[in-house]
Amino acid sequence: MKAIVHYKYGLPDVLQLIETQKPIPTADEVLVHVHAASVNPVEWYGMTGFPLARPSAGWLKPTDPRLGADFSGVVESVGANVTDFRAGDKIFGTTTGAFAEYVCALKSIALKPANVSFEQAASVPIAGLTALQGLRDHGKIQRGKKVLINGASGGVGTFAVQIAKAFGTEVTAVCSPGNVEMIRSLGADRVIDYKNEDFTRNGERYDLVFDVAGSRSWSEYKRILKPDATFVLVGAKKGFPIIGPLAGVLRIFIGARLSGKKIAFFIAKITRQDLEAMKDLIESGKVTPIVEQSYPLSQAADAMRHLGTGHAKAKITISLAEEKAVALPAKTKQALQV
Ligand SMILES: NC(=O)c1ccc[n+]([C@@H]2O[C@H](COP(=O)([O-])OP(=O)(O)OC[C@H]3O[C@@H](n4cnc5c(N)ncnc54)[C@H](OP(=O)(O)O)[C@@H]3O)[C@@H](O)[C@H]2O)c1
Repeated sequence: MKAIVHYKYGLPDVLQLIETQKPIPTADEVLVHVHAASVNPVEWYGMTGFPLARPSAGWLKPTDPRLGADFSGVVESVGANVTDFRAGDKIFGTTTGAFAEYVCALKSIALKPANVSFEQAASVPIAGLTALQGLRDHGKIQRGKKVLINGASGGVGTFAVQIAKAFGTEVTAVCSPGNVEMIRSLGADRVIDYKNEDFTRNGERYDLVFDVAGSRSWSEYKRILKPDATFVLVGAKKGFPIIGPLAGVLRIFIGARLSGKKIAFFIAKITRQDLEAMKDLIESGKVTPIVEQSYPLSQAADAMRHLGTGHAKAKITISLAEEKAVALPAKTKQALQV
């Protein structure tokens, strides 16, 4: 089978397409024929050798050369102890080495939403569950509350806008000028173009701030919080090269703690229960996974370069099958083409 690997850390040129052995599932695993995978910042950190990951990923070079986590595909066979999936099931989830034609997977999988393409399903696990867990579990989102999403047009942000609307909140979304129409088409009540309006100086205050971009200082964020507001910190600017986004995360986190505000920083957990919660939201039409562009496996490096700009629109996927992303609402499709 074909797979993407990297034997050293670095920019996307380190990625190689190789021919390798098809994996063999253990008794607890399923073997999946991958139809699509999606790219996330976590692969960028793994590929470049984000220093905090090196104790487990390998100090000087990756101990495991595989790359990729999110995938969707069709179960080809199941291990002897697997009772909840069978050959032919269409599934989505995460595993190690998803940028490959076949993967073995264990716990973090669920049946794929029936009404979306494999590309769309592959775009869901990390970004979708980060948005869901951040808003629901850490942000304690409640109907009728005012929510601000900063960094609304990327992978996590496009899910967050739709999930926050599904919870019945009033959503203000912040993104760059070229993405305003796309975000509006996802149902945001108000969209702020950060190049032309400073959302920390327009007098608005929010019950919940969900920050994917980490683009502002804590003294600026403080101005937009209602007295009992919660601030959910998801990511930050890449910042200082040695510790990547961690410097930005720490700066905001410490600022919030010192001022006594409620702040949560978390790492999403990919559970079957929450994959199924996303499946329900997607099948009920409340959430539509948006895929901006899909690359063939042989062009995984281009997919990573695209993500590495820090300005990808919605999700970028890697397609391993003929099928292309479809089923976007017409308004969103039109906005993506602008
Ligand atoms: N905690 C977790 O478990 C977890 C999970 C997944 C991701 N993350 C983190 O979350 C962050 C985003 O992930 P992602 O998958 O959504 O990445 P992504 O798809 O690359 O999206 C990043 C978005 O940030 C926006 N952005 C850049 N500069 C901005 C600014 N100054 N103001 C507002 N928005 C700005 C960009 O939109 P424009 O082009 O419109 O500027 C882009 O769409 C990363 O730091 C990632 O490491 C954390």
